[in-house]
Amino acid sequence: MSPSPNGSHILRLGLLCSHGGSNMAAIVAACQEGRLHAEPRVVIGNNSHAPARERAEAAGLPWKHLSSVTHPDPAALDAAILETLRAYDVNLVVLAGYMKKLGPRTLAHYRGRILNIHPALLPTYGGRGMYGERVHAAVLAAGERESGVTIHLVNDAYDQGPILAQCRVPVEPGDTVETLAARVLACEHQFYAATLERIANGEIELSAFAGR
Ligand code: GRF
Repeated sequence: MSPSPNGSHILRLGLLCSHGGSNMAAIVAACQEGRLHAEPRVVIGNNSHAPARERAEAAGLPWKHLSSVTHPDPAALDAAILETLRAYDVNLVVLAGYMKKLGPRTLAHYRGRILNIHPALLPTYGGRGMYGERVHAAVLAAGERESGVTIHLVNDAYDQGPILAQCRVPVEPGDTVETLAARVLACEHQFYAATLERIANGEIELSAFAGR
């Protein structure tokens, strides 16, 4: 990444989302409000009807629909995603509720520079099939007293890349999947931007995690 005059890094973000896009919107708002020193460049979504699209367009960001609909061949989709990220000069890929796996070319090109957010304390309650309400249902079924948010680097295995930061969220008596999900999501909205700012100001060095 290119150093800025104060020694930090200019983050040029490529954001990928599938549905709600509330994490993407929270990150973009943090940039616009000066809490996050980064430039959102492009939003890529795999669902052309997702609220994420409206949120991206309302924020004045380019939205690109890239999916198995636009590119039935997985290799072509991988190439299109990589080409789009490079065309917008992205140097940090931010998965924000993106439900698909990235292809090998994108993973290789941005290795060590792809982040994901998971709504639990990895390494527990993660992996293939552990997404959305299933995560919170499993936390509640296990009788956990706390859950949380994990931000990690992405590698080719689901939810197994090096953990960059975690935030704990209490499980309250009487919690349902919905109430726990809402509490965790509110934490995500703050914590993703705050963690990105720690990357922007050099407090978190991604290169220190890349080989793990
Ligand atoms: C979040 O809970 C995130 O952790 C998970 O999917 C959800 C996305 O929500 N990966 P949104 O699309 O950001 O509103």
